Amino acid sequence: MSETTAPPSTAIPDPRPRVDVPSDTMTVRGGVPVDGALTIRGSKNALPKAMVAALLTEETCRLTNIAAIRDIEVVEELIGIAGGTVEHDADSITITAHTFTALGESDVERLHNASRIPILTTAVSLHRTGEAVVAAPGGCAIGPRPVDFHLSVLRALGARDEHHDGMIHLRADRLHGARIDLPFPSVGATEQFLFASVLAEGDSELANAAIEPEILDLIAVLQKMGALISVEPNRTIRVTGVDQLGGFEHRVIGDRLEAASWASLALATGGRLTVEGVQQQDLATFLNVYRRAGGDFTIDAEGNRIEFTRARRMLRPLALETDVHPGFMTDWQSPFVTALTQADGVSVVHETVYEDRLGYTEALRTLGAQIQVFTECLGPTRCRFGAANHRHSAVVVGPTKLHGAELVVPDLRAGFSYVAAAAAADGESVIHGVGLLDRGYAEFRHKLAAVGIDHS
Ligand code: EPZ
Repeated sequence: MSETTAPPSTAIPDPRPRVDVPSDTMTVRGGVPVDGALTIRGSKNALPKAMVAALLTEETCRLTNIAAIRDIEVVEELIGIAGGTVEHDADSITITAHTFTALGESDVERLHNASRIPILTTAVSLHRTGEAVVAAPGGCAIGPRPVDFHLSVLRALGARDEHHDGMIHLRADRLHGARIDLPFPSVGATEQFLFASVLAEGDSELANAAIEPEILDLIAVLQKMGALISVEPNRTIRVTGVDQLGGFEHRVIGDRLEAASWASLALATGGRLTVEGVQQQDLATFLNVYRRAGGDFTIDAEGNRIEFTRARRMLRPLALETDVHPGFMTDWQSPFVTALTQADGVSVVHETVYEDRLGYTEALRTLGAQIQVFTECLGPTRCRFGAANHRHSAVVVGPTKLHGAELVVPDLRAGFSYVAAAAAADGESVIHGVGLLDRGYAEFRHKLAAVGIDHS
């Protein structure tokens, strides 16, 4: 046997299909307006919450309009550890949790750091086992993202908490009704309230609640399960607890954050892009701002198919302030700012939901954008961050000719804005860490190709 030949491989060939793990680095060759049509599936910020709702019953629950996003894998894993089952088929997920075992510290630590969703199972665990553990959750790097509102909701509904080594242990025999006033209309804390109060003893009320379409979709799921929930006109949610909940079948709302991202890409590159699967009313505020900036759109009769174009060659600059629903969503901000770099004049952006969501503008400057970040509240509202020295406002001067650059993705929405900027830029850009986009943009590379973005 000669030195040079490897011994015959005795390895048994691996039967599983080879899964191409796309490289985490993408090269984008820009300068071409997008042109194409996309179908958008279930919302990243609604689907996982409906999966958590399924844990509130022993009966079988089925969800359709499923998007293949990484964020649901974390919830699936959690359901498996807690003793439930998750079955997939083409466009649906079936969840059954006949039994539920409270998660142990190590699982909680790992899962809470991987995503914002696991903390939402705290109320479920209290209902089903009388105990739960909480760790400071992870998620995107857009701010400290504390969970103090979640804990104050659970305490108000009767949970007792003890803190050991960075972990919070909660106990409750049965949660009971209470009146709670949220300091800020937090989506997560409102969801925690819903999961906790639907099976609590008596009546509960949450003032200053979040009323995002994703919250209303969760309320629709809980109502199907037998819950008694009403949304009052002034951001107040009222719940009368019931003894048990049943199963459900539910089609999750389309992802309005993903739709707005692709629309912003069309605006930034001066292209034409049709999105199907998201309701006009869930995008109403975005559509107004899109038109004010010089974009245009046509919508079909059902309000479910929107074609985005440009109404004029040069975009108009504008003053943009993010807010909770029905305001301009914070998750629409970074992709839209990329388009504003192409506007003819000075735009002003005031981010009022997260204190640290303008870091990505540094990278846009390396592509040639002219953006300055400020700690003042540059908008009509004096927000929570005004007095706290947070860099939460920006001035964008356009139009600027963007050119290729090398970038590293810091969080989901910023990552999309980098790809949009690279597509609008002349030349080649190299973007590292695009795998992070799989958390919230299903079939991302396939969709890029479908709208004509030259990438590899
Ligand atoms: C949800 O996050 C979404 N994530 C976020 O989308 C979205 O930006 C956010 O709501 C606002 O709409 C999911 O649904 C998984 P919050 P959530 O509680 O629930 C502060 C994306 O890109 N706060 O409404 O974590 C918090 O720090 C992601 O898709 C507390 O201070 O948001 C933030 O400043 C990013 N204490 C503000 O409230 C708390 O206990 C809003 O947070 C809870 C929140």
